[in-house]
Amino acid sequence: MVELVASYETDLGRCFHADALTVLRSIESESVDLVLTSPPYALRRKKRYGNVSAQQYIDWFLPFTEQIYRVLRASGSFVFEIAAPWKQGTGTRSLFLYELILELCKTFHLCQELYWYNPSRLPTPAEYVTVRRSRVKDAVHVVWWLGKTSTPKADNRRVLRPYSNSMLRLFRDGVKPAVRPSQHRISETFDRNHGGAIPPNLLEIPNTTSADPYLKACKEAGLVPHPARFPAALPDFIIRLLTEKGDIVFDPFAGSNVTGQVAELLGRRWIACEQDVDYVSGSRLRFAHSRQPQPTSIP
Ligand SMILES: C[S@@+](CC[C@H](N)C(=O)[O-])C[C@H]1O[C@@H](n2cnc3c(N)ncnc32)[C@H](O)[C@@H]1O
Repeated sequence: MVELVASYETDLGRCFHADALTVLRSIESESVDLVLTSPPYALRRKKRYGNVSAQQYIDWFLPFTEQIYRVLRASGSFVFEIAAPWKQGTGTRSLFLYELILELCKTFHLCQELYWYNPSRLPTPAEYVTVRRSRVKDAVHVVWWLGKTSTPKADNRRVLRPYSNSMLRLFRDGVKPAVRPSQHRISETFDRNHGGAIPPNLLEIPNTTSADPYLKACKEAGLVPHPARFPAALPDFIIRLLTEKGDIVFDPFAGSNVTGQVAELLGRRWIACEQDVDYVSGSRLRFAHSRQPQPTSIP
């Protein structure tokens, strides 16, 4: 196992300025509970007509996912978000994400798609939404949840939401057993209070940035903030759902390390890695008590 020196560490985590593949290769097999990331939508070589080559991206990404599969525990999950691309100049979607998922599910299990709806998203694809007016705003990202097995650790009781007013009324007034037009049977137990509502797989999370302390800290330090950060509520939901305190969360393409910060706040251990030194420096500003670590093997 290669020993890498982290750029900074906290009581619960370590951030590496390194290539994700190098860090992945130095992590012990079956030691990580959750890999949560948003990989770069990077195409090294574009085709002549400026289109995305699905196979190129898949070929680039697979060595990372092979390592991700190896480092995950049997109860572990791999969750990632990549903005679904449009084929340039056509107003139609590239299918590469679907091809990627089909490829990954030769080993992983597709547990569920989570839909992240960002109501503050600007109109894209602009040409088709605002000029030609032939598409509507593209404001939902698919977050893919893959399991190493078909039964990864997960518990929706960790992400319960406040009950709606109509549900609270049902608790007060009771429910009459009935069969809905959809043939679903509503039984007496429907009005049992479980401490909160089970959330749907549509997560409405605005990605607004103005009050983000990270932005202020970057400005004061003269660093350019990362332009494509997770809203903290997204990793918060996923980390709660899929891990418990003390578990290990790993973000191989960490950017500004929102994943590490949220994991730390939730009492999870974390590993982050980012190849751009400025983003690593900026991410360190998220942690008031970070320090310079000594060489050790990871995790
Ligand atoms: C979409 S961004 C991640 C943003 C992150 N989710 C956040 O909330 O800040 C992807 C990041 O992956 C980094 N990256 C690209 N290739 C990498 C590699 N081979 N190893 C490590 N990081 C890489 C990029 O520099 C970029 O910051």
